[in-house]
Amino acid sequence: MKRGIFSIGIIGGAGGMGRWFADFFRRAGYPVVTTGRTHGPDFASLAAACPVVVVSVPMAVTEEVIGKIGPCLPRESLLMDLTSLKEGPVQAMLAASVSEVIGLHPLFGPGVSSLSGQNIAVCPARGDSWLPWLKEILEKNGARLVETTPARHDEVMAVVQALNHFLAAVLGRAIAAAGIAPEELRDFSTPVFRNRLDHLQRLLSHPDLYAHLIAHNPYGKSAIISNICHLEDLLAPVREGDAAALEDRLRALREASPSLQPHPRE
Ligand SMILES: NC(=O)c1ccc[n+]([C@@H]2O[C@H](COP(=O)([O-])OP(=O)(O)OC[C@H]3O[C@@H](n4cnc5c(N)ncnc54)[C@H](OP(=O)(O)O)[C@@H]3O)[C@@H](O)[C@H]2O)c1
Repeated sequence: MKRGIFSIGIIGGAGGMGRWFADFFRRAGYPVVTTGRTHGPDFASLAAACPVVVVSVPMAVTEEVIGKIGPCLPRESLLMDLTSLKEGPVQAMLAASVSEVIGLHPLFGPGVSSLSGQNIAVCPARGDSWLPWLKEILEKNGARLVETTPARHDEVMAVVQALNHFLAAVLGRAIAAAGIAPEELRDFSTPVFRNRLDHLQRLLSHPDLYAHLIAHNPYGKSAIISNICHLEDLLAPVREGDAAALEDRLRALREASPSLQPHPRE
């Protein structure tokens, strides 16, 4: 169905991602109405004015907010969220509303300047009349969409986010224990290590966000705990100072991961 111009409501529209998407939709020509705890219309008025409502609030309150906005939306509206986990929020949107439902996870933060080249996970959950509009506006602006289920999204994110951020926290602990000053670390950094330090800095800037991504991913605990055995296996040759045995393990890993092509040395 071809759609004209309509208003888009964003709950949490003054926050990092909410503001980013408010600017994005405004630039695309759509009027945007934002709300938060202390500004904007109440949820019933927002739902009456906006056929598309996006929830972009902290993860700790996402399902509670969905529970309040969901019942205000009619069948022909679209309820979306931007949450970094998908099973819980999508389930909550389906349970709280009769509207169309799409879960989104933009795989970038509010610091990026455009959608060009950015990945977005899309979980269509109820109805199909809004999906073409959404895909078109995102793809037209250069986003790369991956359509998936909430469960698959969270399973993959258990590695991309939960395990990855957990390992960054381990590195942070190790750096603190080594007692090396951050300035000295920067002076000695390789490009790869600079990326690690940037990651750690982001993690420590938003401990609430990252703690949720690690601890609340339904597959996160097993992605982390089941990998302790790999740590122990790789540690064995390190304990012995046996570089050849470690190299064998790395070569075996490369054989098992054909898509990870050899990369030039830094
Ligand atoms: N930041 C990222 O890098 C990133 C990336 C991808 C996805 N996400 C997802 O995007 C969502 C928002 O994250 P964010 O980093 O943008 O958060 P944020 O900067 O903390 O913004 C959250 C917004 O929610 C509003 N808010 C808080 N509690 C509320 C409530 N009970 N009712 C209504 N509004 C409320 C706040 O406004 P008031 O203070 O005015 O209430 C604020 O504007 C999360 O689901 C996160 O998983 C974040």
